[in-house]
Order: sequence, then structure tokens, then C-alpha cells
Amino acid sequence: PLKVILDGDPGLDDAVAWLLTLASPEVQVLGITVTHGNVGLPLTVRNTGVTLALAGEAGAGVPYFAGADRPLVADLVSAASVHGDSGLPASHLPEPARPPETEHAADFIIRTVQAHPHEVTLLATGPLTNLALAFRLAPDLPQLVREVVWMGGSTTGGNRTPAAEFNALADPHAAHIVFTSGAALRMVGLNVTMQCVADPRRIAALRGLGNRAGEVCAELLTFYAGVYRVRYGTSGGALHDPLAAAAVIRPDLLDWQAMRVDIEIQEGLNFGRTVCDLHGVTEQAANARVAVGVRDEAFFALLLERVGTL
Ligand code: BDR
Ligand code: CA
Repeated sequence: PLKVILDGDPGLDDAVAWLLTLASPEVQVLGITVTHGNVGLPLTVRNTGVTLALAGEAGAGVPYFAGADRPLVADLVSAASVHGDSGLPASHLPEPARPPETEHAADFIIRTVQAHPHEVTLLATGPLTNLALAFRLAPDLPQLVREVVWMGGSTTGGNRTPAAEFNALADPHAAHIVFTSGAALRMVGLNVTMQCVADPRRIAALRGLGNRAGEVCAELLTFYAGVYRVRYGTSGGALHDPLAAAAVIRPDLLDWQAMRVDIEIQEGLNFGRTVCDLHGVTEQAANARVAVGVRDEAFFALLLERVGTL
């Protein structure tokens, strides 16, 4: 199986993404590194422990590590209005499986990638602060990772500002470091994730699995649907982070286009925008493969099948 480190900010869709990943035999999760983001670091760390407990056997023995509690330069932003004050709005959640390790997330990333050169995929579903710290501390790292797969950005507009997607806005400077690092990179942005919506029919299917993981996913996505209906007028919440996980497990579920992507780090209307050169007009070499299409039904079938095994 593919060696993977998960990095994120649970956050309800991070939690669903991690359940999908932990349940998938195609990948081996070496550890989980946690960042600030949807809610503050103490809560995202706790929610990681809870998610591992929810995964049962599949989460046993997976270590987790606290990382950055704030962006590199920008002001801290949160998405508690989308994910609830705790980040995991569900009842009857288990206690964290165990406490986090004491090693810093960035140190774990460095140590693990150096131990397995060209073999480790970093699946990032939050602000990129931990990855940027690791890349600065160990300048050889971008060349040693197999790939970075990131849920973030968009080829079109944003969801947190008209220009910026949340994970990009939550640490634009970190995203800039990662996108200029030379690491192999795939970006799964809003232009595809907004096509993958957990509507009432899908929520019912998750609940119908009859296991605890399915029930908790259904409960989380019900809360999320309420927010999305009001804010974005969709029939449910967008499965952003689970789609990025699927991009690691089953890359064929998406269509990819190589292009130059730059992050706007000047403050102003476009702060945090992922500027995607869709038509190659800059004539700059591509630094990322960007998801430009998705097979939504097949993606959801994968999610349902895998959560059903937990
Ligand atoms: C991203 O922002 C967060 O709120 C979600 O967890 C996802 O990673 C979507 O813009
Ligand atoms: Ca996230």
C-alpha cells in the first residue's frame, strides 16, 4: 500500500476524509499531523483522537501529532460557523483513543519522509502551515516526498472570500511555500469539491450502513447540510476533504490538468487566491496537477463502501 501522512484540521469533513482513508486497503496511514484551521488547535487535536477512536481497529496504532497553532504570518481565521464550536457537531462521540505524541507535527513529517525517500504522500486537508514548516526546516524534503495532495484553492472563486478558499486563506504564505517548493503536487479545489454534495439521500445511505461510523458521518453531514443550504443554496454540504482522500485512493475518479498555480500573498481583495493558469498564458512550467473534473457518483459509492467496513 501507498504510505500516507494525513495533515488536517478536523473539522467534520476532515474527519469523514480520514475515516475513508483509514478504511482503505490501498493506503497505509503512517501518522496524522494536526493543524489550526476550522477550529483552534486544542480542539483539532482532540477531534483527531476522537476520529481515530471512531475508526476502531483501522485507527489502532496510528500516532498523531500536534502542529502549528497559527498561520506563519497572516491572522488566525476559523470556520467554527461551518463546523460547530467543537469542530465535530455530533452526539455520542467516543473519547479520544489515546493522547497525541509529544513530537511536533513538522518533526514527524521530516523524520518519516526521510526514512522512506520518494515513498510518502502527504494528504493535506487544511491550511498548509505544518508542511511549510517541515519544508523550511528540511530543505531537501520537497524532493523526497512522493507527492503532496491538497484540498484547497479553486480554479474559480473562493468560499471564504469571493477570491479565496478557506484552507488557502487560512495560511496563504504557507501555501506559497509549498507551491514554490518543487514538490510534486496535486490540488483538489472547490471547482470539483462543490460538485460533490452530501444531500439527504446520501446522508440516509450513510445512516443505513448501520454502524457507528456511518451514523456519526450522517449526523455530522446533517449539521453541515443546514449550514450549506443557507450559505451556498446547495442541497447538502460539499465533501471537500473526502474528495481529496479519494484522489489518493482512486486518482482515476478525477480528471487532472497540469498547470502553473501561484498563491496571492499580497493583502487585499485577492489575498489567498490560488491563481491557476488554466490556459498556459504565462508560459511558466506547471507546478501542480489540478483536478478539473470528477465522477461524483463513483466517488460517493467509494465513500459509502469504505465507511461501511468500519
Ligand atoms: C475546506 O475548508 C474547511 O472548512 C474544510 O474542512 C475544507 O478542508 C473547504 O474550503
Ligand atoms: Ca479541512
